[in-house]
Amino acid sequence: MAEPEYVAINRKTWTRSNAEYTDARARDAWTQKEITWGVFRVPEREIGILPGVDGKDVVELGCGTAYVGAWLKKRGARRVVGVDITPAQLETARRMNEEFAMGLEFLEENAEQTSLPDAAFDLVVSEFGASIWCDPRLWIAEAARLLRPGGELVFMRGSTVLILCSPDEGQAAAQLLRPQRSLYRLDWTDDDPAIEFHPPVSDLFRILRSNGFELVDFVELYAPDDAVDHEYYTHVSAEWAKKWPNEEMWRARKRA
Ligand SMILES: C[S@@+](CC[C@H](N)C(=O)[O-])C[C@H]1O[C@@H](n2cnc3c(N)ncnc32)[C@H](O)[C@@H]1O
Repeated sequence: MAEPEYVAINRKTWTRSNAEYTDARARDAWTQKEITWGVFRVPEREIGILPGVDGKDVVELGCGTAYVGAWLKKRGARRVVGVDITPAQLETARRMNEEFAMGLEFLEENAEQTSLPDAAFDLVVSEFGASIWCDPRLWIAEAARLLRPGGELVFMRGSTVLILCSPDEGQAAAQLLRPQRSLYRLDWTDDDPAIEFHPPVSDLFRILRSNGFELVDFVELYAPDDAVDHEYYTHVSAEWAKKWPNEEMWRARKRA
């Protein structure tokens, strides 16, 4: 399959983001003591979305600087492979991996169609990686192909209500700004163009089921009471996210 046109657009955005923020933040993220999720860093101990990873083979689709993969390796994962399309992000990930001698592996490939073998992993994860930048009909099929029977998929994305309240530019509002009907692909056309995918919950649920997944858990995340606005991800304020869930996490199991 030729690379879809949105891959080059998103690579450009993530090259810029790496220079502006993610490279500088990587060391703190890699050395973080506990696993947290999303813009407002909600602790995994409160969410409990992850399966045990001890001895498991993990692939992170859209790994960015790969701190999630590093957290899972520290929790006992046997093998962690990070897949990403952006050389700058992978360069940071490789540098961190060397500095902390974590033994992660990396692949510069589109997560919608990797060269990894069938049924080679126990867990596929994505934290705002393939989960929002890839076409769900493609990347979820790819996740299903990569997993062993009974393997699990855990991913995070923005919430549907956040998308519905998000203007084309600027911060989420306290009102619905776009229809949910036919929601699938979003072309952000401000000074940093990016293409994102967001089927509503019921559509995504069906895509999962049609690829052989059963839903195990679904959690909506709010900002903690003491949260303050994020220093870089300004598309949503802490005040907004204390009232409405700005993110959601999914856990699904591939039928054995
Ligand atoms: C927000 S980062 C997520 C990764 C990680 N959790 C982090 O915050 O560093 C998004 C990553 O998805 C990657 N990405 C975008 N489209 C992709 C695709 N088609 N295949 C693989 N990776 C992709 C980008 O290059 C970027 O590094």
